[in-house]
This record gives sequence, structure tokens and C-alpha cells, in this order.
Amino acid sequence: MNQAVITNGGVSVKKIDPKTMESKLQKNVYFAGEVLDVDALTGGFNLQIAFSTGYAAGKAAAKGTDMKQIAIDGPAGAGKSTVAKILAERLDYMYVDTGAMYRTIALACIRKGIDLADEAAVSKVCAEADISIKYENGVQVMYLDGENVSEAIRNEEVSKAASDTSKFLKVRERLVQMQRDLTKEYNVIMDGRDIGTAVLPDATLKIYLTASVQVRAERRYKEYKEKGIACELEEIKKDIEQRDHNDMTREISPLRKADDAVEVDTSDLTIDEVVQKIIDLWK
Ligand code: DC
Repeated sequence: MNQAVITNGGVSVKKIDPKTMESKLQKNVYFAGEVLDVDALTGGFNLQIAFSTGYAAGKAAAKGTDMKQIAIDGPAGAGKSTVAKILAERLDYMYVDTGAMYRTIALACIRKGIDLADEAAVSKVCAEADISIKYENGVQVMYLDGENVSEAIRNEEVSKAASDTSKFLKVRERLVQMQRDLTKEYNVIMDGRDIGTAVLPDATLKIYLTASVQVRAERRYKEYKEKGIACELEEIKKDIEQRDHNDMTREISPLRKADDAVEVDTSDLTIDEVVQKIIDLWK
């Protein structure tokens, strides 16, 4: 043993959850490095095993104890994503854009050419779609069948389709699970329509961000113009009203303010003012 470089034997990996390094026999006990029954030839491999399992075990042991969540709900164009991104950077939290997930399912349905009102067909596409969410340099990126679709989901066609397809139970079940899974690993700022009411009912802070239809339409219009996308203000206004109606009246998880959410009307506030208000509430 005095001369040993590596050791054989140890705690059986069959009794360890490989994602968290937590014992399957005893909750809150984590194993890492040489104590595990993992070994390799000398050459850095065993050090890597120690680093990787130590990292996984440390992260898992630290989490769950004080993971925090800020839930931001509200209608389209209220400023949720703009504000959430700034807050995420300031607080060093992960920004989770749940709308992008619903948009990705909608895009999958459009590409399959199915009837967006056909619940069975939409549910099937949703169940079979290979969607994943990755964080690249702290930015959420959506993948559909291995393709980065973060840009492709940002247009009016997908917006409307997402509003239609997000009302179905199977779609919501799959995405809500993905959303909840993320909170196990990260402190999050999550925005959407049902975060405070359904996805994270115990979120540390809940915000309901809203603004008048006129202001929201003007914001969208400006955003599209800046991107060089042709659009009409009146059209956007109508779409927003239609989407509000869809999102607020659907049967499952309609958009509404959670009882314990703080309402912030952004119509007459600058982005900085909104951010400051939420930081104050957070503190
Ligand atoms: O926020 P957004 O415009 O990217 O959302 C796209 C659509 O997805 C929107 O019409 C409502 C729906 N959505 C939802 O039903 N639940 C969420 N948590 C987020 C978005």
C-alpha cells in the first residue's frame, strides 16, 4: 500500500446514483474518488475520476439545501425575458425560458405539417420529438432533432402555433417535467405563464409582470423592425389579444397571477426600474 499508485475495490458503483454520486442505500451520503470501486491505469485517469466524481458529489450535496427560484409569469410582451436575462446575470442564476420550449414543440408540429388543433397528433409529435435544452456560455439553447432552433422559433408563425399547441396536457406534462428537473441543478429565474401557479408553486419569489396591450404591441413591433422583420402594428396587436385570450382561457394551467405573486405593471417603467423593483423584492 505504501507504494500504491492506484487502488482496486471500494464502494460498489451499482449502489451509487452516477449523476449525483449519492448512495442508493443511504440518502445524503455521497462518495467520490478512490473510495469507489473504479480504477484505471495510471496516467491521469484516476485523478480525472476523482475530480469528476468529486465535482458531481459536491454539487449534488450542496444542492437541494438552498436552491432558489424566481418565477416570472405574465402575458407576451410584458418584458419577462428581457428582465429575467438581466436578473439572471446580476444574481448569477440560470435563466430558463419556458416559452422557448413550447415554441420548439410548436416548430416540430409545423415541420411535420400536422393540424395544430388535433390533440392526438400534437401529443404524438411531442412524445416523439427529440428536444433538448442546453446551456452554452450561460445562454439557453433549444435543440430539435439535433438542430439548434433558437432562431427558427422566433417568428409570428411559431408564436401563434405555440399558443395553440401549449394548451394540450401531454405537451405541458413533458415540458413541466423538464422545467422542474432544471431546478434540481440550478438556481433559476424561470419565466412563462404557469410557473408560479403550476410549475414551481413553492418558488422563493413570484412576480406577475404585465403591461397594457398597446405598450406590448409597440414593443414587439420595435423588436421586429430592429431585426428587419416586416410587420404591422395593428396585426401584432390583434395577435397579442388573441394569444392573451388563448393563454388565459385554456383549460389546463391558464395564465393567471398566483395568489402569492407580486404584480408589476411595466407599461410606464423602464427596464432598469423593473429590474430594481424585483431586486428589492428579492432582497
Ligand atoms: O413567452 P413566449 O411568447 O415565448 O411563449 C410562447 C407560447 O407558449 C405562449 O403562447 C404561451 C405558451 N407558454 C405556456 O403555455 N406556458 C409557459 N410556461 C410558457 C409559454
